[in-house]
Amino acid sequence: MIDLFGIYIHWPYCASKCPYCDFNSHVAGTIDHDRWAAAYQKELEHHAGLTDGRMVTSVFFGGGTPSLMKPETVEIVLKTIQKLWPAANDIEITLEANPTSIEADKFKAFKQAGANRVSVGIQSLRDESLKFLGRTHSAKEALAALEVANDVFDRVSFDLIYARPEQNLKDWEDELKEAVTYANGHMSVYQLTIEPQTAFHTYHARGDFKMPEDALAADFYDLTQDVLGGAGLPAYEVSNHAVPGAQSAHNLTYWRYGDYAGIGPGAHGRLTLNAQKYATRGHRAPEIWLEKVQGDGTGLHPMEEINMQQQCEEALMMGLRLNAGMDISPYKDALNLEKIKTLQDEGLLELNGNHLKATQVGMKTLNSILSYILT
Ligand SMILES: C[S@@+](CC[C@H](N)C(=O)[O-])C[C@H]1O[C@@H](n2cnc3c(N)ncnc32)[C@H](O)[C@@H]1O
Ligand code: SF4
Repeated sequence: MIDLFGIYIHWPYCASKCPYCDFNSHVAGTIDHDRWAAAYQKELEHHAGLTDGRMVTSVFFGGGTPSLMKPETVEIVLKTIQKLWPAANDIEITLEANPTSIEADKFKAFKQAGANRVSVGIQSLRDESLKFLGRTHSAKEALAALEVANDVFDRVSFDLIYARPEQNLKDWEDELKEAVTYANGHMSVYQLTIEPQTAFHTYHARGDFKMPEDALAADFYDLTQDVLGGAGLPAYEVSNHAVPGAQSAHNLTYWRYGDYAGIGPGAHGRLTLNAQKYATRGHRAPEIWLEKVQGDGTGLHPMEEINMQQQCEEALMMGLRLNAGMDISPYKDALNLEKIKTLQDEGLLELNGNHLKATQVGMKTLNSILSYILT
């Protein structure tokens, strides 16, 4: 078993706030980049003290919009990681980027700083939809940024959002078929969700737009599987598609319930220390996180032990998202096998020995499967 250990770095700033997004992202006037670099260094040192002896298998700069970071900050973070932990030979280092020309101009510098993979937030290839989603780029600009990304990096992924209001299946099929021609091994394709406390939540509640009914959303999902599967990018997770071998090592660490350090405001981590699994969480507000790191040497809230029942729940919530499924042997005592049998009889789950996976039909109703098994 590979001893997975990822490091997630959260950059909490964006140029503007998208109305659908509930990530910990903020629009700031001025940013003190040197202060951020110093705080990341200090928080990494704190984590190195906890995780002595681990080997880093992946690093992920997420946000917010990490492509707004100075490449120098990325370099400082990566050099610090290199100094504190041994790294796997095939370490994957991803940076999330927004596709504006200003950011594309920095791709080379991010590569020089040590990133070897980029994930670009294209979201749509239709200008009308980009406008609706509150994006500041056009489809043309997004494709230009993707071209730069493909020139600079060997490994490129991009994100799309579907099941948008007014979208029909034919429109999505055309857009997705066009998108796949730009793919370089990996795509993340998310169904639009209306999250509480977002501007879309307010607009939707007051009737500004209607979301697709469940049956249509399921058809969008099936169509996505067919088009991307047919193009050689089958799903390996509910929303993630890759040619074999190009899966994201960092995200697989989450879904396989491996360990990861969460560095930055609001970042979550999971660390196994002396055979006990812990949940970590950074203070959410960027200013407070910075102050805590500077004052206390860490911006973490107190760590919380995760008991066996909770580990079982978390591992299932993650592992069943994978098309390959998961090994349930560590959780057998905490699981209700009768319920799993019932869902197997209904054609939603498959259990072979200790290996559990959702069927294609089950994948579309994962939330209800999980709430049935786990309550
Ligand atoms: C941290 S966010 C974005 C990174 C980058 N700032 C960007 O906007 O491209 C990661 C991805 O989550 C997806 N996402 C965020 N909120 C979503 C929502 N409410 N519904 C569906 N997808 C969403 C988007 O595709 C986005 O690219
Ligand atoms: S979707 Fe990306 S750019 Fe938009 S607010 Fe969220 S993190 Fe920022």
